[in-house]
Amino acid sequence: MLTIALSKGRILEQTLPLLEKAGLSISAKELKSRKLILDTNLGEIKVIILRASDVPVFVQHGAADIGIAGKDVLLEHGAVGLFELLDLGISKCRLMVAAQANQDLAKGTLRIATKYVNSTKRYFQSQGRQVEVIKLSGAMELAPIVGLAHCIVDLVDTGNTLKANNLVPLELIENISSRLIVNSASFNTKHSEISDWVDRVKDNL
Ligand code: ATP
Ligand code: PRP
Repeated sequence: MLTIALSKGRILEQTLPLLEKAGLSISAKELKSRKLILDTNLGEIKVIILRASDVPVFVQHGAADIGIAGKDVLLEHGAVGLFELLDLGISKCRLMVAAQANQDLAKGTLRIATKYVNSTKRYFQSQGRQVEVIKLSGAMELAPIVGLAHCIVDLVDTGNTLKANNLVPLELIENISSRLIVNSASFNTKHSEISDWVDRVKDNL
């Protein structure tokens, strides 16, 4: 038996077709239900659908054998107890520093609003820049407008969200896409099942 943890929201929309191509489907009825553990067309595989940031937690602790999550979430969580096996090339975007156009980020201690606290600290530390990080759960773009922060660290795709809030992208921290991860212990104990399945996904990308 294998359990796969999927991120709900925008990653899910792009993950389901990938899984279908690899031979795994979940019926519309199952997806619409309020069940938390979903049956698939393959009796030996169950799917759980979680908040994106919870996927690596479930996989790290072996509550799921396999997971699909954004690199942004994985960088934030860290790699303990899991292996990243595939770049699925979906949900691509960039983790960036953004601010109002007239903001000078070069001097003094920068106040930064983000939900990516660890990645933000790592990035600025690596450059020897002094920062104070304010953790938010959403609507980061608001922070520079209301004077809560000098800049933000957030995901950027089209740039429309930044533009709509008069912010400009300034520095690239990481290119982001969704990754397939596995629990490191499961990868040993269920090696052939997991490898077969991962190869099927890989061959159909
Ligand atoms: P939660 O509901 O747990 O707070 P969330 O609102 O961040 O999560 P989504 O917006 O669905 O959830 O984002 C999930 C993942 O999708 C992110 O971790 C990232 O990898 C990817 N993603 C987010 N925004 C974009 C975007 N604008 N373009 C492409 N991919 C994105
Ligand atoms: C994400 C991200 C940005 C936006 C960037 O938010 O947090 O706000 O996408 O995309 P863009 O550059 O194409 O405008 P999302 O739409 O997922 O909403 P959220 O704030 O609920 O996470």
